[in-house]
Amino acid sequence: MQIKISIAQLSQKDFSQAFPFLLFLWFQFFRGLIPLIMNEQRIKVIDKEFEIFIQNNKINEEIQKVANQINIDYKKKKPLFVVILNGAFMFAADLFKKLEIECEVSFVKLSSYQGMKSTEKVKKIIGLNESIAGRSIIIVEDIIDTGITMEHLLEELGAMKPHDISISTLLFKPDAFRKDYKIDYIGLDIPNDFILGYGLDYDGFARNLPDIYKLIK
Ligand code: IMP
Ligand code: MG
Repeated sequence: MQIKISIAQLSQKDFSQAFPFLLFLWFQFFRGLIPLIMNEQRIKVIDKEFEIFIQNNKINEEIQKVANQINIDYKKKKPLFVVILNGAFMFAADLFKKLEIECEVSFVKLSSYQGMKSTEKVKKIIGLNESIAGRSIIIVEDIIDTGITMEHLLEELGAMKPHDISISTLLFKPDAFRKDYKIDYIGLDIPNDFILGYGLDYDGFARNLPDIYKLIK
């Protein structure tokens, strides 16, 4: 009993003596932790700073919802997916892994963006090799902004007499959209901010990031 009391007294005394030091350690710990957390959420690409916007697990949840709907709508249609490179490559890869229907995939390469804004001129770089006449087509795009790129592709594909065309996009900026065609499958509506990551780039960089970041204004 006597021993127990002396240990309690000793530890109380030790604690009050060590308290300022413990407080100092605690303070140092959080001082180090805060920038660590902030840095993980912020990145610099070329000359601009970006902050985390949509994390990969959320992106995957939204892609799963799109895939579920396509799996229902296209059960017996054997669609041909036309993926718009470069931006949509990551979305297309993850979407494809979630599809349970018979389908094919092909790629076209279009570009309308330079730096951080649309040039409003669409350049077709790589075309489609297979015939799409009579086929059900699903276009796969990373993001629809002004809608110009997609309108251009719709015209080109429409002239090849497919049976039907629908559009799937991971992201959609409703405030920037200037066209009036229907977008059949949308992962997420987002505000009119410049974003990158998960296939989307800033002058060619940051496509490899698994999460999506937005520009800090
Ligand atoms: P739209 O022709 O204006 O609809 O632009 C579509 C294309 O521009 C997309 O395929 C993207 O490659 C690119 N784009 C649009 N918004 C962004 C963005 O916020 N970050 C990166 N690329 C974008
Ligand atoms: Mg794109």
